[in-house]
Parts: sequence; structure tokens; C-alpha cells
Amino acid sequence: MQEKPDNFSVVIFGANSDLASRKLFPSLFELAQWGHWPEEYRIIGVGRADLSHDEFRAQVFEKLITHSSGAFLDEPHFKAFSRRLFYVRLDLTDSEGYNDLYRELMYFSPDVGLAEHILFYLSTPPDLAPIIVKNLDHAGLGEKKDSRGGWRKIIVEKPYGTNLQTARELNVAIGEVFSEDRIFRIDHYLGKEPVQNIMVFRFSNGIFEPLWTRHYIANVEITIAEDFGIRDRGAFYEEAGLLRDIMQNHALQLLAAVAMEPPVDLSADSVRDEKAKLLRSIRPFLPSDAEESIVLGQYEGYRSEKNVAPNSTVETFAAVKFYVDNWRWKDVPFFIKAGKNLAETVTKIVITFKCPPQNYFGPAESCSYIANQVIFCIQPDETIALRFGAKRPGESVITDPVYMKFDYKTSFTEAGMTPYHRLLLDAINGDQMNFIRQDSVEYSWAIVDAIREAVKGTPPESYPIHSRGPESAVRIYS
Ligand code: BG6
Repeated sequence: MQEKPDNFSVVIFGANSDLASRKLFPSLFELAQWGHWPEEYRIIGVGRADLSHDEFRAQVFEKLITHSSGAFLDEPHFKAFSRRLFYVRLDLTDSEGYNDLYRELMYFSPDVGLAEHILFYLSTPPDLAPIIVKNLDHAGLGEKKDSRGGWRKIIVEKPYGTNLQTARELNVAIGEVFSEDRIFRIDHYLGKEPVQNIMVFRFSNGIFEPLWTRHYIANVEITIAEDFGIRDRGAFYEEAGLLRDIMQNHALQLLAAVAMEPPVDLSADSVRDEKAKLLRSIRPFLPSDAEESIVLGQYEGYRSEKNVAPNSTVETFAAVKFYVDNWRWKDVPFFIKAGKNLAETVTKIVITFKCPPQNYFGPAESCSYIANQVIFCIQPDETIALRFGAKRPGESVITDPVYMKFDYKTSFTEAGMTPYHRLLLDAINGDQMNFIRQDSVEYSWAIVDAIREAVKGTPPESYPIHSRGPESAVRIYS
């Protein structure tokens, strides 16, 4: 286990949000039980509801009953945790109200470091972020004006802006109050163990990386499929759509991890330099590329979901062919497919290698049948498989694909943390490697803006629920 961090306070804006209930409070509670937190820490929930500290504690207890793993959730453990919980009622747009937050933070117990080390967590709609940081600054809680000699950091949830322009504005607004090395833009995909392992797999093994180039790789396919719809997030989806919800962040981050160059070292900035460089190398989309490279879809029945317009043209599916214009990847297609209400829930990356120069075994098409592949399954299984051809037993020489597989579950027994456990710990400890830097966020938005612009005016194609998406999605593979 890492050394314990300094005593600290966490302030959660949006203490009643779905994210706080499902992920943040359970993760903070479990990290406490696993012994990751220091002697003293405080968790201050901020929200609009008029609650006493005790009422807030009771609400958190209810959330934990529903959403935590259940381990440790008994009276003594919760009691020990609940004495760390506090509540401040605040209208987030009212700058005067932040003085109450200031008092709660500064005058509670000034001698144990709780006021020196503060993490702000914005679990709030994106348009509130600039207002919150401005008000924090006004109340003397911003990082740049801090003279107490500790740290003040901010975690900002996705969606980080809604396009390049709003993301830039947000970067400027937050950058006025917090330095870049105190800003943690979270994408929970970067907290997933198999995603963190992509870099380790690539750069700690001698046998794969020499082949990881356009000379040996035919294509790369990234799939983020879900067998459920937008659930109760109609209003959000109408604003976002899949390109903004999943392509701009999770999908492009997977692409960056699988295609980036080796970093100079393992510092957060070296790794993020390479990811930014990769995103910058993605070939810009032009309207003339749309037909060949982009297919958007909408599942049947989407327009009848709650808070969705009856004539909505918002996409719930996207299949996009990318090219990375650099020496390693020139002309290798990267296919990304992501969608709601598809046949199965799976996130995976498949690297397909070129066929051998001469095919002795069967007809030409048998090569793609057995083509070598490295398959990273991120979820629900956490595996890495290597596919190759083997002789089917018998007199004839027939080649079949077979797999060598590594499975986290059978190879490691350590109790797994979830992405939010890992990323909260990283933020408290100041490790930014798995958070998105300003430049990457902007490059990703430029890509998604260009895709949206290229398909402007073309309605998404309808696809049946639990299918593979619109039938025409195959055209990007040709
Ligand atoms: C979220 C998206 O960021 O990621 C959701 O807003 C999506 O639409 C979710 O369902 C997927 O996360 P995971 O970890 O379940 O794959």
C-alpha cells in the first residue's frame, strides 16, 4: 500500500447526484475501511437541500446500503466514517453562499491540516463548472491564491464541455483559479485495470512492441457496446448523443493507449505527452469522408424514451474509421464502434495482424479466418488473448484459429478496486497519469466536432434493439 496521504478535506459539489450516490460515497467509505485514508479527513457534501449534518449522514448511509459492496457496512464501521461527514447547503450560483463553505473548511479544526489540503469534486452539470470555480475563487478557496502552503485540487467530471469551444472556455475558466497540475479531468475508463494494463502489456514485454506498427498490423478495432439503452438519461442524451458521451472520451482514450509511442519515462506528463501527440496525429475528418468513414445510428424506440423529442435525430450508435497520420500507423485503419442497446455488453480492442506472405494452408480467405490477433477484453471479462492458427487434428491440413488467454481473475487474486477507488486515490496522492490533460481534451473535441460537422444534416440510421447496429455500418470496413 502507498504511504498514507496528508490529512485532507474533500468537498463534493452535487452531493445528491447519481454519481455521488453510486460511486463517490461508496468509494470513499471503502477506501477508509481498507486503510487508505490518514488519521484525519473530512468529507463535505454540498447541495441545495436544507439538511443538517446528521440528516446528511443518514442519507449517505442509505446510499451506501444500496450501492456499496456491503462489506464493512455495519453500525460501528459506519459510525466511525460518519463522524467525517459534514454538509453545507449552497445555491451554487450564489457567490455569497460560498463564505459558509469557507467557514466550514477553515474553522473546523485548523490545527490538523484539514484546511491545508482540500480536494474539490465537481459532480455537477458541466455548465455549472465555470460558475463554481469563479465562486470558489471569490471566497478565497481557489488554488492560485492559496497561501497556506498545502494543496488545493479539483476533479472535474465528464462531459468536459460540449465541443471544442466550450471545452476551451472551461479550460480558461478553471485555469484562472487552479494550475494545470492541480486539475484532474476524470474519465473513469482510465481507472479500469485492463485499460491501465495496456501500457504495461505494450512496454514491458519485448515480443509485441516490435510488431506494433503499420508493417505488421492490418487494422485495429475498438468496440464499446452496451445491451441497454439510455436508461433514465433522456434529457442528457438529447444534449449529448453518443459521440460526445462515449467517443470523445472513453473511445479516443482507448485509441490513444493502444497506439501511443513509448513515453520518455513514467511521469504523468511523459505519458500524457504521448497521448496528446497521438490524438493530434489523427487525420482530420472532412465532409467528403463521411460516406466512407462514419455511420451513425439510433435504436428503435429511442424517440419514445422519457425526455426525448419525438423527432429526435440524436445518435445512440457510431461506427467511425480513423487514420493516424504518423510513421508508425500511416494507412492502418482504426475502427471504433460504440452504441447503446446493442446485442451484448462488451468493451474490447482487437489488433489484427497482416497475413503471412505466403499462404500454404487452404484458400486465400482462410488467412483472415486465422489471422493473428491480440485481443484486449476490458469488460465484462478482463482478459488478453492471442489468436493464432493451429492444425485441426486429422489427416488433412486444415487450420483453425485457437487462443492463448490471460485472465485477471485466475492469474491474480487481489481484491479489485473499482475505477473510482483508484482515481480518487490518485487524485488525493497527486498522480495525474490517468487524468486527461488540457491539450488532449481539446484535441479530442476537435476530432468529434469534425465528425459531427461532416455528418451534419444526415439523420442517424435506425437499428433494432439488441442488434449489431445499423446494417450499413459494415461499409466503413470496406
Ligand atoms: C459513461 C457514459 O461515461 O460511461 C454512459 O455516460 C456509459 O453512457 C458509461 O454507459 C459506460 O461505463 P462503463 O464503465 O459501464 O463501461
